[in-house]
Amino acid sequence: MTDNNTSALPIVVLISGSGSNLQAMIDRQQELNIEIRAVISNKPDAYGLTRAANANIPVKVLNHKDCASREAFDTELARLIDDYEPGLVVLAGFMRLLTPAFTEHYAGRMLNIHPSLLPKYKGLHTHRRVIEAGESEHGTTVHFVTAELDGGPLVLQAKVALNPEEQESELGRRVQQQEYIIYPLCVQWFATGRLRLDGNTPILDGKPVSKEGLLLKSELLDEKWRHSSEGSIF
Ligand code: GAR
Repeated sequence: MTDNNTSALPIVVLISGSGSNLQAMIDRQQELNIEIRAVISNKPDAYGLTRAANANIPVKVLNHKDCASREAFDTELARLIDDYEPGLVVLAGFMRLLTPAFTEHYAGRMLNIHPSLLPKYKGLHTHRRVIEAGESEHGTTVHFVTAELDGGPLVLQAKVALNPEEQESELGRRVQQQEYIIYPLCVQWFATGRLRLDGNTPILDGKPVSKEGLLLKSELLDEKWRHSSEGSIF
């Protein structure tokens, strides 16, 4: 794989919780061609803030409870983000509904990961709902963010087959293992100029991505990535 752009892309990561997806990017900033300029949380006790501080990444907390309205929160959040002049905003377990003004401001430069095979199972408690519905497969999706909750253009999905009698926590753990592969990969694609959004269509290496998004396969990974995904679906 060749990098189209050599300088690291500045990014800001938004979190609300554990930040394990953030960690997967902190650990590989150089390889991903990114510089994480800041991590911002709407929850003061989010463990991801500790992960960022441990990596000497500036952290900010904007507690939604201190804001008069959703619009006021999003306006202040955009001000905080834009201070760092990121080329990409990465939502990594950021559990907030976003206003259209906010998503429009970052159109084509904000990614999210959602723990389901979108468009199925938007919203919360996806692992539990998938088990209760008796699905045979589940997974996770990286997509560009639009005003529609978990509804923006799909980029890449990874699937896991459900095991009989599997508990929600174990299924969630296996889905997250896939997240640590596909999210950094999409961020790397974006940061090296391979991935962009044209209107409502993601373009990867000059080719439009279908509405269903791409499915993670070993061909999408170079040797280093294949190694880091050992034990996953392929
Ligand atoms: C991830 O599994 C991510 O897919 C999910 O939150 C988790 C955050 O984990 N995001 C959503 O549900 C967004 N709708 P992490 O804080 O350990 O990265």
